[in-house]
Amino acid sequence: MTSLMTQLNETANFIKSKVNQQATTAIILGSGLGNLATKIEVDFELPYTAIPHFPVSTVEGHKGRLILGTLNGVKVWVMEGRFHFYEGYSPEQVAYPVRVLKLLGVQNLLLSNAAGGVNPAYAVGDLMILRDHISLFTINPLIGKNESSLGTRFPDMSEPYADIFIQKAKAIAAANNIKIHEGVYVGVTGPTFETRAEYKLIKAVGGDVVGMSTVQENIAAVHCGMKVFAISVVTDLGIREDNNVITHEEVLEAANAAEPKLTLIFSELLKQIA
Ligand code: HPA
Repeated sequence: MTSLMTQLNETANFIKSKVNQQATTAIILGSGLGNLATKIEVDFELPYTAIPHFPVSTVEGHKGRLILGTLNGVKVWVMEGRFHFYEGYSPEQVAYPVRVLKLLGVQNLLLSNAAGGVNPAYAVGDLMILRDHISLFTINPLIGKNESSLGTRFPDMSEPYADIFIQKAKAIAAANNIKIHEGVYVGVTGPTFETRAEYKLIKAVGGDVVGMSTVQENIAAVHCGMKVFAISVVTDLGIREDNNVITHEEVLEAANAAEPKLTLIFSELLKQIA
């Protein structure tokens, strides 16, 4: 067995030794979007620091714990806090928890993130379902020897976000009067927010929002055969001509304000796909 698989098995077996329940869906919560965790009846939780081989999150707004619990009547794994390339983790480390979830039996992965809007029709606080993504210089987590027990060398990426989940989420949003967009997420490394010229570039290449997460997790999940759904909360607008200053505080504030809409969509979707 490769050292990656050995480590993944050690991590998964450690978690299994602590909890004897299962869930087929997992949620990874983005910056400022951790409130969903308070809606969960928690059966079990572990700080990332207690999990062997898990990286540890360092960003403000990321608590860093793995939860198994019940949301809307359905068992679910929740990762409160994720790992970002800009924190210094390798793409493989960013992808690591996704692969652990796979070994724990997860088939469906729901992701949330905070993102900057570049589509002029978007406003701060809006939600956008990811239809597709573009990686702008984020390093592919599958680079290196392929782990064939996880997936194929050259994964197909024609449907990185499962259409069936997109359709269900749109129906849930409509039924609850939640305005929702569907578009393209451009993944960048950060940690700088973009320059004015970069926001223009992102718009020109077909992006609707831009953010510093999600793409590497998505790739690792698709590689190992999971179905993925992701939503961005538009926390700032990257195309303001007058005042283009963006702060982490404003991102967290906007994410917090939009969070209840996101929680509703995730918990309804969870129930429908269970
Ligand atoms: N750019 C990149 N990442 C982000 C942004 C942004 O404007 N807002 C929140 N995450």
